[in-house]
Amino acid sequence: MTPDIKPLVAGNWKMNGQRDQLDQLALMSKGADAELSQKLDMVVCPPATLLYVATALAEDTGLHVGAQDCHANASGAHTGDVSAEMIADCLAEYCIVGHSERRTDHNESDSDVRSKAQACWRAGLTAIICIGETEAQYDAGQAEAVLSAQLQASVPEGATDQNTIIAYEPVWAIGTGKTPSPEDIEAIHAFLRNELVERLQGPGERMRLLYGGSVKPSNAAELLMINNVDGALVGGASLKAEDLLSICEVYRKV
Ligand code: 13P
Repeated sequence: MTPDIKPLVAGNWKMNGQRDQLDQLALMSKGADAELSQKLDMVVCPPATLLYVATALAEDTGLHVGAQDCHANASGAHTGDVSAEMIADCLAEYCIVGHSERRTDHNESDSDVRSKAQACWRAGLTAIICIGETEAQYDAGQAEAVLSAQLQASVPEGATDQNTIIAYEPVWAIGTGKTPSPEDIEAIHAFLRNELVERLQGPGERMRLLYGGSVKPSNAAELLMINNVDGALVGGASLKAEDLLSICEVYRKV
């Protein structure tokens, strides 16, 4: 945690979730009670097909809704794509950009990610910008250099703690059950904080730095209490309300 930063836990459903999982969203809304919502911002990012119904279910509750990706343009001839404006029109408030699965599956570059983050701002969304090194880069001791370059090139000028959240997701920790040691996470997050402060000054001090990669109820208490870890981006464990809520509950007592 970082003093004076309200943590945020976001669930990324990835390409999972149909109407029969809406009961999980309803349970999440219910679990995001007033006391817990004071302690953290709870966000769920279902697939685009469920966004509008998700915001309706979350209305007037402590649950917030985000999307998983957006196109850089507001509209136009881009078959199959979804713009940040469309996401905002669904009353969502956040949008993940630059997830490693998009960088890999769709060859997204840092400059694509930067344009998408700007699109989020244009539409009034908070961008959750993901960065992360591969296992080979980690093993070669290149994590900091890779992350610094991604941060520089993916985060646009004008980023503030209001319009941007950074999610550090080591690619090798996603969906594998493996996580870096708490000491490693602390060191990387301290490094990222320094980079943000150097570039953005005050807003860099206040910007939320999430950790993502195999976060689950059994390791949440340890991971979320690490210095400069201001929440989590949760994949698999966010599909069940019980698991996502149990991760969020870590903050109730602090
Ligand atoms: P898992 O929590 O399933 O490892 O996924 C992490 C992730 O990619 C969230 O964006």
